[in-house]
Amino acid sequence: MAEQRERWSNHIGFLIAAVGSAIGLGNIWRFSYMAYEYGGGAFLIPYVIALVTAGIPLLILEFAIGHERIGSAPLAYAKLSRHGEWLGWWAVIFVMFGIELYYSTVISWCANYFVISMSLGWGDDPNNYFFNEFLAISDGPSNIGSVRMPILAGLVVVWALNWAILYRGVQRGVELANRIFMPLLFVLTAVLVAWSLTLEGAMSGIKAYLTPDFSKLKDSKVWIDAYSQIFFTLSLGFGIMIAYASYLPRKSNITRSALLIGFINSGYSLFAGFAVFAVLGFMATSQGQPISEVVSQSIGLAFVAYPKAVSLMPGGAVFGAIFFLCLFVAGMSSSISILEAFASAVVDKFEISRKRTVTVLSIVGFLGSIIFATKGGLYWLDIVDHFLTHYGLVAVGVLECVLVGWLFSLDTIKEHVNRISTFQLGVGWDVLIRFFVPIALGLILLLDLIGEFKKPYYGGYSWAPLIAIGVGWILITIAAAVLFAKKRWPEGKLEHVPEEE
Ligand code: ALA
Repeated sequence: MAEQRERWSNHIGFLIAAVGSAIGLGNIWRFSYMAYEYGGGAFLIPYVIALVTAGIPLLILEFAIGHERIGSAPLAYAKLSRHGEWLGWWAVIFVMFGIELYYSTVISWCANYFVISMSLGWGDDPNNYFFNEFLAISDGPSNIGSVRMPILAGLVVVWALNWAILYRGVQRGVELANRIFMPLLFVLTAVLVAWSLTLEGAMSGIKAYLTPDFSKLKDSKVWIDAYSQIFFTLSLGFGIMIAYASYLPRKSNITRSALLIGFINSGYSLFAGFAVFAVLGFMATSQGQPISEVVSQSIGLAFVAYPKAVSLMPGGAVFGAIFFLCLFVAGMSSSISILEAFASAVVDKFEISRKRTVTVLSIVGFLGSIIFATKGGLYWLDIVDHFLTHYGLVAVGVLECVLVGWLFSLDTIKEHVNRISTFQLGVGWDVLIRFFVPIALGLILLLDLIGEFKKPYYGGYSWAPLIAIGVGWILITIAAAVLFAKKRWPEGKLEHVPEEE
């Protein structure tokens, strides 16, 4: 017997959960690193343009699909078009068995660093500590070596939490966890920002953050990275927002929610950026280095540059612990949303109970993430992130625009949104979804692919592991998606009865 579809307790519960999904590891170090790399304030221009022209329109689209069709990504897409279901499966499968596996590993690093910061355990050389002691990195992706026990222990914590939260269901699990996580995250971040601004040299960092270097905007890479950052940060193409919207009451203000979530998420990134840049300013001042030289890699920003700065500041151990706790909390609230998107799809199609689904999923997920906890794990993480986050999410974005904009009637979706929302969608949204977004994102994919052939990712890897891990992962997940889509739906499940209140 099919279970009754779960619901948020109210609209605020949904908003908090969707913000929790959006705000994640990506907001703190990925955003800040991009701003650092791409000319400080100048990066905000492509970032905001990407938010307005693709982020928010697609967020509205994903909410609308889940809400109007009432289903997880595969069910909602299957109800849109017979040819669409595999896409829904592909999104939830590669996100769950690609992105989530390494995402949970990075959360485990944060949990470890939370503990390590209390005694400034990285010593005098955080760079050496991170790569050679903590990760004990091997010499390449084909040499995975043994499993790093501290990382494995962190993974046990992350997956146990994932399981415990999801097991309790949408309202008493996902919603409640976010009602605790989000206020905690905002308070901790505010403490970090206020504290970092009192550090000596903080203002030089803030100046670097807010002074735009427009010359960087000429590089197409900045624009590509701005669009893919918006995708990642708003959890677009993950299937999450579709599932989350399917748990909304029938009368829900879709456009207002999308605008609110889009701006809260980016506002949070901007705000957290103050803490990151103030600390970089402090570090540059205390080491007598220019700001442009204090960080060398994106991963290094959180796990090398920050620990270095923390060791230099008074009360640094507490500051460091708060910083890694922020990353942990932000990461957990996104991690549970990734599991929810996959679990809701399995519950919809296979009518397996939620409890059984999340238990099996958590065990399989935990086992799968162990590869990233090995000595070769960082290489795997890097390659899977590059292929799946970069190509996978953007590809889902293009295909969902084509599916809804061209193969299905966009008007049906739009009318639904306009009937229940205050802010009305006009012809501009149609143009964005049918033309601008697929063309712009398609171009980005193409440029990226061309770049890939010209200069294989990071140059340092040889082609064999790149093809085996990166492309292989994409192909296997597509094959699994097609297979899942082939199975027949339970009787009556695909009937679309628009419920109106
Ligand atoms: N939206 C999540 C993040 O930014 C996945 O980390």
